[in-house]
Amino acid sequence: MSRKRTAVLISGRGSNMGALISAAMEPSYPAEIALIVSNRPDAKGLERAAEFGIPTAVVDHTGFAGDREAFERAIDAVLREHRIELVTLAGFMRILTPYLVNAWSGRMINIHPALLPSFKGLATHERALDEGVKIHGATVHFVSAEMDDGPIIVQGAVPVLDHDTAETLAARVLEVEHRIYPKALELVATGKTKVTGARVLTGAASESELQLVWPD
Ligand code: GAR
Repeated sequence: MSRKRTAVLISGRGSNMGALISAAMEPSYPAEIALIVSNRPDAKGLERAAEFGIPTAVVDHTGFAGDREAFERAIDAVLREHRIELVTLAGFMRILTPYLVNAWSGRMINIHPALLPSFKGLATHERALDEGVKIHGATVHFVSAEMDDGPIIVQGAVPVLDHDTAETLAARVLEVEHRIYPKALELVATGKTKVTGARVLTGAASESELQLVWPD
């Protein structure tokens, strides 16, 4: 089995990156984390990646005078240079233009801290509390031209508790993120995902094959 050479794009602490690296340390995992790219030179995740001996690259968006496409061309060049096959966005806080989205169509996935299509954008946990939802969670999806949109691969849900603050809720959701992102990457890397319209079929035929709600 050839493991898919996968890049993780980050902007910050990189805890989801860490979850993907941990999963890929298992030799039978179908993806290999071959490159970490950050748009911020000070991203904490870069140090963590280096500790694991994974190659890192910084493409600083501030160096492109607001030319988003030029920034993305530079990212694309780094990805190609490292012979990357799949791209995972993990807290990569730049809005993408159609340039990069089209270049990696079907090969780029993102994690979002909400049950899409609810709560696209920022401050998802605050908004979930404001709206009074009882179930919140996270989503991994293929990246499309619209922000926080695109066919959904895996979702994970958590209960919202009476005493929750945005911080406690974020922490509960983050644990789920760390479980579902490796699962989603595995599905994509093994070619088990089939996109039909807005849906992604993953071959899961019974509930027990896809645990979606924690705690179970
Ligand atoms: C994660 O919660 C991720 O879902 C979110 O940023 C955080 C990054 O944390 N992404 C977005 O909001 C993208 N729309 P991490 O750097 O520890 O993985």
